[in-house]
Amino acid sequence: MTATKRPLLVRAEDGATPLERATHTLPEFEWDAIAPVIAEIDRLKRERNAIVLAHNYMTPDIYHGVADITGDSLGLAREAARTDADVIVFAGVHFMAETAKITCPDKTVLIPDPRAGCSLAESLTGADVRRLREQYPGVPIVAYVNTSAEVKAEVDICCTSGNAVEVVRSLGVDRVLFIPDQYLAAWVATQLPEVEIIPWKGACMVHERFTGAELRAYRAESPGVQVIAHPECPPDVLAEADYVGSTAGMIDFVTGRGGRPVPERVVMVTECSMADNVAMEAPGVEFVRPCNLCPHMKRITLGKILDSLRTMTHEVVVDPDVAERARRSVDRMLAVGAKR
Ligand code: 13P
Ligand code: SF4
Repeated sequence: MTATKRPLLVRAEDGATPLERATHTLPEFEWDAIAPVIAEIDRLKRERNAIVLAHNYMTPDIYHGVADITGDSLGLAREAARTDADVIVFAGVHFMAETAKITCPDKTVLIPDPRAGCSLAESLTGADVRRLREQYPGVPIVAYVNTSAEVKAEVDICCTSGNAVEVVRSLGVDRVLFIPDQYLAAWVATQLPEVEIIPWKGACMVHERFTGAELRAYRAESPGVQVIAHPECPPDVLAEADYVGSTAGMIDFVTGRGGRPVPERVVMVTECSMADNVAMEAPGVEFVRPCNLCPHMKRITLGKILDSLRTMTHEVVVDPDVAERARRSVDRMLAVGAKR
């Protein structure tokens, strides 16, 4: 499972308003300050036929208070492609909002703060990809979705952390260029030893800070703890993990979705807000929380979401020619999952 429709959406079935629901998931002292903001966002969403798509790294007030759909990059890309809303407010980073615009060019896609970037997306350009093609003629190029539209327009297929192995396998070749995350590339290589993976040297500034030594210390302090890690972490970290997966995969692991037993204690090796969000969905689980914040994700706030809906800014614009070529790479990725 990669995306979740928040209870906010089921108002029609049980009669509860989004406001009433949010009061149950936020501490009371915070609630007084943010309740009017949530109410106004809700009103504007109805007025503009808008939805809020929120990445799993959003703070709990956004994740539980105003998101219509939460998920990882893959789930949100899928949901963007199928929504009937006229306006998508993307509570996440710029490449994610751009992916939504690529999959639905006729919709208005807003990002509450256009400075919300990503160290991976910023590590290479379309010109870099064209140079790689010249250097490695005939070798397919797989791009992690954490890339700009102009990069997506130059590659053969996209992938996310949730489907990277499946996407590379689907190509049926023995050599691929995998951009831009060197660590995700290394992880895919461990899963598909028959394929030579040529990586770009990009890295996530949040996940590359975790170390294997740090995780060994958590294990020593807390025997029996389950370590779950995002594949953007370096190999020595992933070697310590009991489970490696996308943000949605990690939520499934903690909440026991998919038939796994619910763990007693977990270390979530990813961005801090994830554990805060999931803790509310997994009240019986004890979380050990190493905390690395993504400064880009944290640019998105409840106040900026409100401004975004009020002023209909900041609209994400992608050149139509670039968007069309990028869409081929994204659609090819979505088709891999759809066939399954
Ligand atoms: P997910 O696709 O796992 O949500 O990851 C996106 C991301 O930016 C992680 O840092
Ligand atoms: Fe980019 Fe890392 Fe932030 Fe995700 S956590 S948006 S990969 S910088």
